[in-house]
Amino acid sequence: MAEKKAFVTGHPIAHSRSPKIHGYWLAKYGIDGSYEAIDVAPADFAAFLKSLGENGYRGGNVTIPHKEAAFAGVARRDHAADEIGAVNTLWFEDGILCGGNTDGYGFAANLDEHAPGWAANGPAVVLGAGGASRAVIHALKERGVKDIRIVNRTLARAEELSRHFGAGVSAHGAGALSELLADAGLLINTTSLGMHGDATLSADPAGLPDHAIVTDIVYVPLETPLLAAARARGLKTVDGLGMLLHQAVPGFERWFGRKPEVTPELRRMIVADIEGR
Ligand code: ATR
Repeated sequence: MAEKKAFVTGHPIAHSRSPKIHGYWLAKYGIDGSYEAIDVAPADFAAFLKSLGENGYRGGNVTIPHKEAAFAGVARRDHAADEIGAVNTLWFEDGILCGGNTDGYGFAANLDEHAPGWAANGPAVVLGAGGASRAVIHALKERGVKDIRIVNRTLARAEELSRHFGAGVSAHGAGALSELLADAGLLINTTSLGMHGDATLSADPAGLPDHAIVTDIVYVPLETPLLAAARARGLKTVDGLGMLLHQAVPGFERWFGRKPEVTPELRRMIVADIEGR
């Protein structure tokens, strides 16, 4: 049988760690397949989507800035993509190009692995109201979290998400944070604050209850200032790398026919890459 081909596309794409993740699984399971990074400029994205079938691809991943164009460009979408408003995974079903979103799945699977029972831990405070926040809120709702509090610098964006997701999802400005944290069971940072060692703390975990879990979807650095402060406060913390690893699972299974495992060895490999070792 012909080699099974998949890809990740973005612009730029050179920094993507997805080829390392899928390459690790292809080798581990001895699958005759390939997974390559393809840089596609926004102006060429529609033509790229149309050419996938004739170029022999089974599907692929889509990242910044193409997730919304992929959402608009596929013939069929899964429920998560519709809720999140973006597509990060493409595959074919009976020759029809389909799009899904696995970011929310990856977020929940990461917490399942490192903080089992997290969904029953109490109200969730979500920092940020961008694309990443939508995936997180979708996952929280799917997993039955009843009280989801979006806190954003720009209140109007939080309000838009609160309307979109409906009952149980409220919107707040930054000023309400300390009050909202006082009885929260989960604190999730979805903003880029804290990336690349930026020392600014967007929320102070000191005000959280003792049983709270703190997670950050930023994974460079692995321990963000928020996670460091939460750990110093004695709280359970989960870093964002597991979300990246787990969101890759459903795509690999669709293209290559086997559900891959997120192993400690895979994690070590990507950590070494992040740390430039
Ligand atoms: P993504 O798709 O990665 O979520 P985004 O849509 O650009 O990216 O959203 C970025 C989020 O980080 C937003 O919630 C943004 O707040 P605003 O909606 O007020 O812009 C938040 N953010 C980015 N820089 C910030 C900063 N310096 N202070 C506070 N919030 C910030």
